[in-house]
Amino acid sequence: MDHFLYRDGALYAEDVPISEIAAAVGTPFYVYSSATLLRHFKLFDEALEGTDHLVCYAMKAASNQAILKTLAQAGAGMDVVSQGEYLRAKAAGVPGEKIVFSGVGKTAEEIRVALTGGIRQFNVESEPEMAVINTVALELGTVAPITIRVNPDVDAKTHAKIATGKSENKFGIPISRAKEVYALAASLPGLEVVGIDCHIGSQLTDLEPFRLAYEKVAELTEVLRAEGHNIRRLDLGGGLGIPYERSNEAPPLPVEYGQLIKDTLGHLGCEIEIEPGRLIAGNAGLMISKVIYVKSGEGRDFLIVDGAMNDLIRPAMYEAHHDIVPVNEPAPGTESQPYDIVGPVCETGDTFAKQRALAPLSAGDLIAFRSAGAYGAVMASEYNSRPLIPEVLVHEDQFAVIRQRPTFDEMINRDTIPEWL
Ligand code: LLP
Repeated sequence: MDHFLYRDGALYAEDVPISEIAAAVGTPFYVYSSATLLRHFKLFDEALEGTDHLVCYAMKAASNQAILKTLAQAGAGMDVVSQGEYLRAKAAGVPGEKIVFSGVGKTAEEIRVALTGGIRQFNVESEPEMAVINTVALELGTVAPITIRVNPDVDAKTHAKIATGKSENKFGIPISRAKEVYALAASLPGLEVVGIDCHIGSQLTDLEPFRLAYEKVAELTEVLRAEGHNIRRLDLGGGLGIPYERSNEAPPLPVEYGQLIKDTLGHLGCEIEIEPGRLIAGNAGLMISKVIYVKSGEGRDFLIVDGAMNDLIRPAMYEAHHDIVPVNEPAPGTESQPYDIVGPVCETGDTFAKQRALAPLSAGDLIAFRSAGAYGAVMASEYNSRPLIPEVLVHEDQFAVIRQRPTFDEMINRDTIPEWL
């Protein structure tokens, strides 16, 4: 459920008409609903009620300071994967003890910054990385809390570019080697092993791969405890999918996911961490764009819109579907027609949808790309020298620009000319 609904024929974000925001900030732009962000966070929090837990929002999905602050004020922890994300989390007021540091290539500098500023744990992905964390911790005269990310060799049944839990993927250590790697960790004085980490992929629309992975984590917990490791925390990653195509998708709900966690791992008495990103932010954001031209091609009509693949890359990169709706609701009974919806970037890949049925549209009309809150703005670029588009946050009847559109001068002046030119 989200808070983007039609009222009297106009699309609203909570209590603000989208057209009012468009008039104030221009198009294209991203708009987020605070109520939807908070609702999704609470669904996870409530799904784990009765279990000692922390929901660590995977801020790679949408990392604007205002979004982080909204979630942090509700009690969320954060999952970060770079120094930039760590510093963003801290700047938004998240205490170090609520930040987990994931990612396959943490540098010594990143580790130093996190150990100095405070960290809940590092999710270690390899032996060489473990050695560096140990060295940096000893240099700083401290002990780094760690989990080790195990790769359970489970097929997440999702898009190949976002599956991470198969043995051929670059992530984690093979679960078959866990005993050996945990023994190594226990021998390093700069590390304190606190638990196990596991993340198998993103946009999972079935609970079965989670079940298989979590059963393996449960088994491993017993094995490692028998070896003398104090396994008290399980980080289960993120990955629960969202309905991108509302008409025919119904992925499992957070409450069902929470129940699965309790069923598979509840008997172990561990503290549970989860790292959802997409389910919290995805349906809490729209990208709003304007039709520039309607072009009649051979056997098809193109809607050329002012948003492009540089603003929302998911369709070009993952063949992702985003529902597209007009901001002015079509009158009941209006007949739809098929459109190819494309941006102005000079690549055929700059296509959002092919032969999508929409009520007839004209130049100047606004459209909304749904489910664009996660992996939208954060994956944007300035390709074709198109400035990054603004982000807007709505809270009830108020809205605020939470990232300005840069001017063309600002964009150009970030470059510097060497003195020989
Ligand atoms: N934890 C770890 C260690 C991750 O690598 C990820 C996502 C998450 C949590 C959050 O997963 P989520 O709950 O959002 O599924 N750009 C792609 C998605 C990449 C996901 C990468 N890792 C997309 O647009 O679909």
